[in-house]
Amino acid sequence: MIRINEHYRKLQSSYLFAEIKQRVDEYQKANPQTRVIKLGIGDVTRGLPGACIQAMHTAVDEMAEDETFRGYGPEQGYEFLRQAIADNDFQARGADIKPDEIFISDGAKCDTANFQELLSGESRVALPDPVYPVYLDTNVMAGRTGPEKDGRYQGITYLESTRENGYIPDLPPEAVDVIYLCFPNNPTGATISRTGLQKWVDYARDNKALILFDAAYECFIRDDSLPHSIFELPGAREVAVEFRSFSKTAGFTGTRCAYTVVPKDCRAWTADGDTVSLHDLWFRRQSTKFNGVSYPIQRAAEAVYSPEGQVQVRKLTDFYLTNAGMIRQAMTDLSFECVGGENSPYIWIYGGRSSREIFDMLLNQAGVVCTPGVGFGRCGENFIRISAFNSRENVEEALERIQKALA
Ligand code: MLT
Repeated sequence: MIRINEHYRKLQSSYLFAEIKQRVDEYQKANPQTRVIKLGIGDVTRGLPGACIQAMHTAVDEMAEDETFRGYGPEQGYEFLRQAIADNDFQARGADIKPDEIFISDGAKCDTANFQELLSGESRVALPDPVYPVYLDTNVMAGRTGPEKDGRYQGITYLESTRENGYIPDLPPEAVDVIYLCFPNNPTGATISRTGLQKWVDYARDNKALILFDAAYECFIRDDSLPHSIFELPGAREVAVEFRSFSKTAGFTGTRCAYTVVPKDCRAWTADGDTVSLHDLWFRRQSTKFNGVSYPIQRAAEAVYSPEGQVQVRKLTDFYLTNAGMIRQAMTDLSFECVGGENSPYIWIYGGRSSREIFDMLLNQAGVVCTPGVGFGRCGENFIRISAFNSRENVEEALERIQKALA
């Protein structure tokens, strides 16, 4: 008799954004006359930068000729893209990351989901609350938790991000082995200082732990004092892996390209106490389970780093940051307490009542979709997240509708 992985039964019945989509679809069916404005999932709306499109076209043409055609690419991704990433995203910021420490992939979601596979089932996991649900769900699937009770899974150390601690969690009260961090944060939009992040690096070094650092939103940082990469901090190479994405940087949510940095000296241990290179294990995993991102897409991603690409990408992210500033201002004017929206495309709003109630109210009375904070964890109760990814016209209209609905 074929049996299922029982750990899947501990999961909530659907993934957060799938559940929201279903509720919005139901609403739309019942209210076909309403033009729903979606500020829920962080999905970009603007066209790809011209430099990326041009590079993609050229690469597609190359694929048409036998002389320039490419079949399977190198396991870690093409050298031209890894070199551009190492130079621009790391070496230029004083972070010593080499091209062969970079693994090109089709998404930070899959990489943050898959990386835990390399780690022992007994690893003690700490993750933020509220949290991007992928980190938690994949650890539940892997059997690292007990059942869920009152919004918490047994066996997980929750790092609470609250109004009281300014949405920057304290170090875990007990020893843990794996720590998930995300800055600028999804969902709160909070950022971390160099000193704040250094504490986590030091903790990981002292406790032989590993930090899985999600930096998918680093392109929205405008405050020069903030770190863009954990590898800007001394000592991080041995204890951290970093996930990056072109999704929000350059509008690749539908195009798919991302990368993961696993430094060669990043280590973990065997049951016998021998040191193992996580770089080698990730290479082993990727070369067995993944066949790379297509050549035209990697060429498009490379174009992000061309002089014109850099200007276009900056314009793109500035556009969403202007939306974010407008949302934060409008919600603050309505007397809501807000965080994020400054070095982040997400605004985390304290609503003072059940987040599902606010979600329903905004949907039913304003035709605007947000994300209920509780979907990201217990500490998200009474909050909503509004995303800045939409056209200027839609953001303006959404804010007008919210103002009217709340008046
Ligand atoms: C979000 O809305 O949290 C993100 O779009 C999810 C993702 O990037 O997978």
